[in-house]
Amino acid sequence: MTDNKNTYYLTTPIYYPNDNLHLGHTYTTIIADTLKRFKEIQGKDVYFVTGTDEHGQKLFETAQKAGKKPLEYIDPIVDSAKSLWGKLDIRYDKFVRTTSKEHEKNVQEIFKKLYDQGDIYKSVYKGHYCVSCEAYWTESQLVEGKCPDCGKDVSYHEEESYFFKLSEYTDKLIKLYEENPSFVQPKSRYNEMLSFLKGGLDDLSVSRTSFDWGVKVPFDEKHVIYVWIDALSCYLTGIGYGHDEEQFKKYWPADVHLIAKEILRFHAIIWPALLMALDLPLPKQIFAHGWILFDDDKMSKSKGNIVYPEPIIDLYGVDALKYFILREFTFGNDGSFSNTKFLQRINSDLCNDLGNLVSRSVTMVEKYFNGMIPEPIKVEEVDDDLKNQAIETIGKVEKLVDKFDFSNSLEEIWKLIRRTNKYIDETEPWVLGKEG
Ligand code: ME8
Repeated sequence: MTDNKNTYYLTTPIYYPNDNLHLGHTYTTIIADTLKRFKEIQGKDVYFVTGTDEHGQKLFETAQKAGKKPLEYIDPIVDSAKSLWGKLDIRYDKFVRTTSKEHEKNVQEIFKKLYDQGDIYKSVYKGHYCVSCEAYWTESQLVEGKCPDCGKDVSYHEEESYFFKLSEYTDKLIKLYEENPSFVQPKSRYNEMLSFLKGGLDDLSVSRTSFDWGVKVPFDEKHVIYVWIDALSCYLTGIGYGHDEEQFKKYWPADVHLIAKEILRFHAIIWPALLMALDLPLPKQIFAHGWILFDDDKMSKSKGNIVYPEPIIDLYGVDALKYFILREFTFGNDGSFSNTKFLQRINSDLCNDLGNLVSRSVTMVEKYFNGMIPEPIKVEEVDDDLKNQAIETIGKVEKLVDKFDFSNSLEEIWKLIRRTNKYIDETEPWVLGKEG
């Protein structure tokens, strides 16, 4: 799956606006923004899609509980998400709202195409529905009668439904995985998905009649389209599928879909099968990172331990938060946020190492050279050492970022920062300064 395109297309999930976005959403989005900037420095023409996933029963019920119509409830949350990304200087190119007319029309066209060509058919669904995960489960998939993903209660449903012939894609997906061992990252997640595939796939129920907060099936309006088909399609509609073919051709396929592990199955199985059915090239990679926990516990509203980024930004600034996110967590694994860890990183890495280097360099340049960086007079071995380390650091950082190893790429940069501080200690420029 290599090509010579000079474009780079990356996405975050589109988030549910059922509540204000928290540090977890901020994590994926900061990583995506960093990757975008990095690829641009490497000379790529980058496109970055994010957005909000606004349909589905869960959102409808949340709005109802708040005594509001869905959009009345959602709009202020979308505004606050955009304002958060603005505060963090997140340079996305397109913010997809699944309730936009453009997106809805394209989703209907996708659904109709799949129906017309026989990939979608009508039948009756019998199963257990988890509102929280917007997913149906068979009896055997339940764990102690509850949703196998989130552990919440499910309810039994029988309803007329359209189905996507997912089962017919099982072998093609296995072949895809076997031919592209890096399709899903990290490796442990790839293995998990491949073994899931080898267990065989059932056809997927892709419409609902029990509620109507969604995109209507264009030829059968009592059905709304399953929220995951609606949501996943944002990766196509966000770059022009169905309305700007030139832009779409320029950027598709995606270079990477960044997500967290809980939505991997939708991205690593349903999504490529849908794309195969649409006869479109597949994304090059799906990276499922771990969760940010709070003091080793999953953040959740009911536990009251959700960390919001705004107070951190107000107190410590945007760069401190970005640095912490990229440095502290190994992308791919779960990691824990705590106030102590945050402060330790900021104090030791930013204040001591980087702060010290910047402060002493600037002070000396001002004191001894009136703020102008002088030309070097004599180059000694110690200077060459530092110069070589700086040059080597560039290559190391590039390799690590290409592997999504942001933490170690920053560690390489910090090795250089610490080495530079040592260089100043060793060469004692203040002695030379005093000598004039
Ligand atoms: O799943 N740690 O939306 P969502 C790390 N709308 N990342 C986290 C996190 C945490 N604690 N919590 C959230 C949906 N995230 C669907 C997606 S895509 C076509 C549709 C991040 O609001 C992470 O990227 O539940 C995760 O996958 C996503 O937010 C889930 O966001």
